Amino acid sequence: MLKSSTHPRWFAAAAANLGALLSDHLHCERKAAENALSLVRRYPADGHTVEALCRLAHEETSHVVQVADLMTERGLGPRADSPNRYARALLAELRPREPEHRLDALLVAALIEARSHERLGLLERGFAAAGDERLATFYRALANAEDRHAALYVELAERAAPPPVVAARLDDLASREAEILAALPFAARVH
Ligand SMILES: [Fe+2]
Ligand SMILES: [Fe+2]
Repeated sequence: MLKSSTHPRWFAAAAANLGALLSDHLHCERKAAENALSLVRRYPADGHTVEALCRLAHEETSHVVQVADLMTERGLGPRADSPNRYARALLAELRPREPEHRLDALLVAALIEARSHERLGLLERGFAAAGDERLATFYRALANAEDRHAALYVELAERAAPPPVVAARLDDLASREAEILAALPFAARVH
């Protein structure tokens, strides 16, 4: 689904400040839960989609708890959320009118989940190589969850629009996602 791979130097920048990285990760999981529930609020008509999004929000909320527990274990506290230029730039791609807006919202969510899966996998392998098995195990579990989430959002998009329309728009948005990511500096955050 993604059209680019994260640069190999990204891990060092992300891991350079574990407190900042984990705090950003906590807010990413919170926003993933909030976004799923906001889609329920905006599009309540399809019962299957509502149930899937509520289950997703529940799972994302459990990830918030897992990140918070890990922070406590490491003596770290959550910080105020800082603006996420990556998500903001992607959300700017949403077409304003329905039904296009709904389709775009589902596909942007799929891409953010896919990128989160890639990045959490890099954190898993980076921390494993650095000998921190606790962090490696933590990120392995969360990376696996994010992968299923990307596929779920594409499935939900295919309930909202014909598959060829979904595939064409996903292709466009994936190109934009790669451009947006390439323009951002590396930092101690998920994206
Ligand atoms: Fe998550
Ligand atoms: Fe997720």
